[in-house]
Amino acid sequence: MKLYERLLLENKAWAQEQLEEDPKFFSRLADLQTPDFLWIGCSDSRVPADRITGTQPGEIFVHRNIANMVVHTDLNLLSVLQYAVEVLKVKHIIICGHYGCGGVKAAMSHHSYGIINKWLRNVKDVYRFNKEEVDAIEDEDKRLDKLIEVNVREQVMNLAKTSIVQTAWKNDNRPHLHGWVYGLENGIIKPIFEMPAGTEIDPFYTYDNL
Ligand code: CO
Repeated sequence: MKLYERLLLENKAWAQEQLEEDPKFFSRLADLQTPDFLWIGCSDSRVPADRITGTQPGEIFVHRNIANMVVHTDLNLLSVLQYAVEVLKVKHIIICGHYGCGGVKAAMSHHSYGIINKWLRNVKDVYRFNKEEVDAIEDEDKRLDKLIEVNVREQVMNLAKTSIVQTAWKNDNRPHLHGWVYGLENGIIKPIFEMPAGTEIDPFYTYDNL
């Protein structure tokens, strides 16, 4: 059997299992999705949003990229965000990083990775903005953990800087923004930062004509 054929085989078995458990599973989901959550996570294969949160198809709208970044010029992220907030009307947005993130680790190094350098520049900027807090930690592994946490916090704040989130906060008192970090070693998610709808943000970034 070829490597990829295992996936197709497993898929058939999974579909069969779902139908046995709930004959209407697919017909119900095919009609519409009404997820309460938007998940912005790292692309790392060890951090599958639904598996680690015990959620089912239809429950989480997902966007993943290297190091779970919210980059204000990223048309892909912004499209997902706008659709989730304005059409799906999600109640919560979760930025979920993870300890041992290779993307953040690479950004801390001085090694060139080619085109990924441009993406990791955003993480380097987070490091620069928070250098004192991160460099206060002597142990190298713990310093990486700290930057991973700080990066999640910055990405939550980046969400609040968008007119998409500010408009929804003003008109609909949602979504609630969460910053979490997942532990590869124990499977536990640690909440580290949150911004409930309406949280005051740095006035530099507020829009007064929304
Ligand atoms: Co990662």
